[in-house]
Amino acid sequence: MAKTFIVANWKMNKTTGQALEYARGLKAALLQNPVSAVVVIAPPFTGMRALAEELKDSAVCLAAQNMHPAARGAFTGEISGEMVVDAGCRYCIIGHSERRQLFGEDNHLINAKITAALNYGVMPIFCIGETLASRNAGETFSVLSKQLKEGLNKIPANDIGKIAIAYEPVWAIGTGLTATPGQVHEAHSFIRNLLSEIYGEKATADLSIIYGGSVTAANISSLMAEKEINGVLVGSASLDLASFLAIVNFK
Ligand code: PGA
Repeated sequence: MAKTFIVANWKMNKTTGQALEYARGLKAALLQNPVSAVVVIAPPFTGMRALAEELKDSAVCLAAQNMHPAARGAFTGEISGEMVVDAGCRYCIIGHSERRQLFGEDNHLINAKITAALNYGVMPIFCIGETLASRNAGETFSVLSKQLKEGLNKIPANDIGKIAIAYEPVWAIGTGLTATPGQVHEAHSFIRNLLSEIYGEKATADLSIIYGGSVTAANISSLMAEKEINGVLVGSASLDLASFLAIVNFK
């Protein structure tokens, strides 16, 4: 069965002190009130080591927000998959639309990052999603299909279940415009069907497909009521602990 993930993407927010204060509160809340979903925080690189120490015996896991595909070398400003693991992360967000739009990442580079993450035993949280212009032009499925096929190029079928797909329509990220549960259902069904056509039903049976884009405490329940939604990737609403806890404890 696909696992449910609730992932906090902090982006470029929180000093180590702020991160630790939040982590202590989250850890205590989950100890008191455990949830069945896998709860993951993606902090900035600077906070990872301290958070890993603070959260080591807790139910909270860590993700990096990005990594470089090479093992090591002259790549100023980058960190490798080995460093991601060394800092205590089991997951890595790859191909976020901000990386694609602001840092020029293309499907080819994203494919190299996914391949490298898998080599280090890091689970990629592979982000895909269409822009508003593509949706309005009726190109949502062709965009998703290209991102999936190129992003997963040469990944063997038995590795597909080691990846979580995050459907994040670009027009819904940080805009307050959440996709409707129906729109998410349609996109997630398309993704699962396409991948099971390519890799076989067995390879995709346990694949988690999560949604991201203006998820809040107010819309989490209606989104999670869709059986095709295996969790959420939360940006802005994850920065405040009370707001994130309200999402984690959705009913
Ligand atoms: P948002 O961000 O929740 O602020 O829309 C989601 C994301 O970027 O993953």
